[in-house]
Amino acid sequence: MKQLAILGSTGSIGLSTLRIVEQYPDRFRVLSLAAGRNLDAIFAQCQRWQPQVVSVATESDAAALQTRLRAAGLTQIEVLHGAAGTVRVATLPGVNFVVSAIVGVAGLEATYAAVVAGIPVGLANKECMVAAGEILTREARQRNVPLLPIDSEHNAIHQCMRGGAKAEIKRIWLTASGGPFRALPPDQFANITVTQALQHPTWVMGQRITIDSATMLNKGLEIIEACRLFDLPPSAVQVTVHPQSTIHSLVEFVDGSILAQLSVTDMRLPILYALTYPERVASDLTFDMRSLSHLDFEPPDFARFPCLRLAYEAAEIGGEHCIALNAADEIAVDSFLAGHISFSAIPRTIEAVLEQTPRRHPSTIQEVLQADAQAREKAREVLRAGAKKKSVSQT
Ligand SMILES: NC(=O)c1ccc[n+]([C@@H]2O[C@H](COP(=O)([O-])OP(=O)(O)OC[C@H]3O[C@@H](n4cnc5c(N)ncnc54)[C@H](OP(=O)(O)O)[C@@H]3O)[C@@H](O)[C@H]2O)c1
Repeated sequence: MKQLAILGSTGSIGLSTLRIVEQYPDRFRVLSLAAGRNLDAIFAQCQRWQPQVVSVATESDAAALQTRLRAAGLTQIEVLHGAAGTVRVATLPGVNFVVSAIVGVAGLEATYAAVVAGIPVGLANKECMVAAGEILTREARQRNVPLLPIDSEHNAIHQCMRGGAKAEIKRIWLTASGGPFRALPPDQFANITVTQALQHPTWVMGQRITIDSATMLNKGLEIIEACRLFDLPPSAVQVTVHPQSTIHSLVEFVDGSILAQLSVTDMRLPILYALTYPERVASDLTFDMRSLSHLDFEPPDFARFPCLRLAYEAAEIGGEHCIALNAADEIAVDSFLAGHISFSAIPRTIEAVLEQTPRRHPSTIQEVLQADAQAREKAREVLRAGAKKKSVSQT
């Protein structure tokens, strides 16, 4: 029986994971849950799953949740908050698999704590790998702890890699849908609205990853994630735009063979794979091959999507550049979602922050979090300076 800690249980990946648990009650049990601010959702999950421990983002939300749980007679559930709460959720005695699906670096300490405690991790949270992948993979390899990718592209690569030895891999190909603006003329990018950017053509996901898919920064983060997870140089990680999102990624071997993984666009499949690896279990997630008429591929457009170039550059430099890429993007995306900056200002903000980022390589999680906080502050400064310039030019 897999006894699960789910970090980010109220999010898109968290909900898909709970649907899997619902479908396979003999295989999985929920021991602990961590969420952010959605108290109604986490309260309902506590009622349904009766975890031993639950954690939310803030102390006041934890107190409010505790009151609601007591009123509902659920007095046995321990309610915690903040980073320490998520660490406890991940490392609770009895947990033997952690699903890491908190968005952003908020999930980093708990994911690292799970690895250090020797608990296998199903990794959806790519920001963890981007910010601290060097440290996380080093610890995981030293302790022989499996890091099983849930991100569909990396999950596909993981599956295809079973077809050959690491030394036989020439390169990997990450597929990208290209997002909603694949064919939009570049001069219209500045006018893209939040509603348009939140319309992903093939996947339904959380807000940040959906905007990141529209700028293709998401693919950039995935390039870095792939380098870390599979121990490959950036030059061995290529991107191909595949609008149907039917092939989730491919591995090219030295003899010229290319293996691809195809399946429905439903995150339950990579989650199920990670949860049951190395076994494969029967599911209802079938892909109808008869419906497949053609598969399109095209090279990514680096001019239209500067985030891809920024990500390759950060992947080459590593360390704080990867941390800053992710942190600056998170701040810029929040600002875009709040209606404060244009879509085109997202890559400009990231580039301005990267230009000021030192070439340092943090060696501890604390140093990573420090560099992350510094990069966020720089991003806010860049945005403040931009807003000031705009208001001056308007007067
Ligand atoms: N969705 C996908 O299809 C997909 C695919 C591949 C990879 N991923 C990756 O998976 C991760 C999650 O994505 P998502 O789409 O599921 O995001 P999402 O729907 O926005 O969910 C994010 C989750 O993180 C929780 N959270 C946010 N801040 C927190 C904090 N400070 N402490 C504890 N929990 C916090 C949220 O809680 P509340 O809702 O309660 O605030 C929610 O449960 C991301 O790293 C994303 O890149 C997602």
